[in-house]
Amino acid sequence: MSSFVTCHALSILFFIVFSTLFSTNYGVFIKEFPEANVRKPVEKRSHLQFYLHDTLDGKSPSAVRIAGLPNSTFMNFTNTMIADDPLTGGPKPTSKLVGRAQGVYAMAAKNDVALLTVLNFAFLEGKHNGSSISIVGRNHVFDAVREMPIIGGSGLFRFARGYALANTFWVDSKTGDAIVEYNLFVWHF
Ligand SMILES: *[C@@H]1O[C@H](CO)[C@@H](O)[C@H](O)[C@H]1NC(C)=O
Ligand SMILES: *[C@@H]1O[C@H](CO)[C@@H](O)[C@H](O)[C@H]1NC(C)=O
Ligand SMILES: *[C@@H]1O[C@H](CO)[C@@H](O)[C@H](O)[C@H]1NC(C)=O
Repeated sequence: MSSFVTCHALSILFFIVFSTLFSTNYGVFIKEFPEANVRKPVEKRSHLQFYLHDTLDGKSPSAVRIAGLPNSTFMNFTNTMIADDPLTGGPKPTSKLVGRAQGVYAMAAKNDVALLTVLNFAFLEGKHNGSSISIVGRNHVFDAVREMPIIGGSGLFRFARGYALANTFWVDSKTGDAIVEYNLFVWHF
């Protein structure tokens, strides 16, 4: 009888200890904040303008072919490049560096010249140093202006959405080297 009582008391004790342990926040997978408790951040709009320098040629190319059919050339379907292109405030390669475009682009159209473009713009300038904006889109390269969606951002560009407009400022049709003007219209917090 007494051992039954002890046993019973022990299991109650265990129940209390464990239910306390598991009701604390250790290992909470997801916690939602009711809308009413969240202070609404103020949405901002920014326009960024810069020039991207994509260099395929020479001793130190900024974009390098990483995949594609063995016989494919720059403009051929399947040709895939990885890029770390400088972004400058003005169109000249010597203009002030404001960031880098790091990402991948691939020839994704069989009977056309259209890129799948996946780029992170990593900014280096002033208070935007360390913040980034990401785009994913179709770049139909011979159009005067190509629009690509902004799908997110980090740092000062958290929750970024909007669109990027690209237009070719200069291109060397032999090498594929290009300077492209980008205008980004971005909503963010
Ligand atoms: C490249 O090779 C593939 C497979 O052999 C062939 O189908 C294609 O026509 C070739 N393309 C060129 C540009 O030579
Ligand atoms: C590859 O590109 C070259 C040069 O632009 C073009 O002449 C050729 O037809 C292309 N081949 C294929 C298979 O797209
Ligand atoms: C940007 O931030 C990096 C790392 O914090 C720092 O090394 C660099 O000097 C900064 N650049 C500018 C232009 O402020």
